[in-house]
Amino acid sequence: MENNELLFYNEYEQFYKMTEESKAFKNFCREAFGEDFSQDGFSDLNQVKRILDYVPPREDLHILDIGCGNGKMLGFLQQKTDAFIHGFDYSKNAINAAKNMFKNKAEFRADSIGEIDYPDESFDLIVSMDTMYFAPNQEDFVKQIMRWLKKGGVFFAAYQEGDVMPKTQNEKTTVLAEALDKCDIGYEVKDITRETFDLLKKKRGAALSHQKEFEEEGNNEWFELLMLQTECAKNDYDSFAKEMARYIYTVKKS
Ligand SMILES: C[S@@+](CC[C@H](N)C(=O)[O-])C[C@H]1O[C@@H](n2cnc3c(N)ncnc32)[C@H](O)[C@@H]1O
Repeated sequence: MENNELLFYNEYEQFYKMTEESKAFKNFCREAFGEDFSQDGFSDLNQVKRILDYVPPREDLHILDIGCGNGKMLGFLQQKTDAFIHGFDYSKNAINAAKNMFKNKAEFRADSIGEIDYPDESFDLIVSMDTMYFAPNQEDFVKQIMRWLKKGGVFFAAYQEGDVMPKTQNEKTTVLAEALDKCDIGYEVKDITRETFDLLKKKRGAALSHQKEFEEEGNNEWFELLMLQTECAKNDYDSFAKEMARYIYTVKKS
């Protein structure tokens, strides 16, 4: 790994260690997102419930989560659909936690985008919440995802611009959308920037309401990070929307 990639990797290892140990973070997640999925992003219960609308009506479902963290979101999807769940993430701490928590109809791998592979037509649904940014080559990765999907299967990706990925000039085009276009893959897109702004405000309020708990645990640095991540929610919506945008992309494989 390059130096800055290693920094990111180590940060995620620490993040998932903290999510195991911190009661304050679990309480924060419940208040901010409606459910504790150890989120490092924006996957609140409303967004995750949206995924359920795209589950193909089939027996013997297989769902893959790209960047699954400790697998709690997959656990929720399994409860609702009885699917066999598959997840991968490069954080070993996250994957160890997932393996401990989910033992039934579940498979988790500590591996990286660009290195991992699955047999063609393995999954009915592939989800990726805030992780497509880390693909070393976006076009190669979307082609690979389409290979992994069964016919009639769905790819569902939540994707943010403005923090990890710089906002593009062309309003309709993100790096992900550009890659899908170049690969001639048809998709639907829903702009959820407004609800993301509201969610960021809620995240900030929830972090503040658990500040003391974070401090008592010695987890001040995570509280400070949450403050930094939600700083932009102090602006009015129009200023926010000039800098950030969030979309849900869905692709159905014919
Ligand atoms: C922004 S977090 C999103 C996590 C989770 N999906 C969520 O919504 O809370 C990005 C996730 O991708 C993982 N990740 C980052 N780069 C990766 C890579 N190159 N290969 C696999 N996983 C990666 C991180 O460990 C982290 O769990």
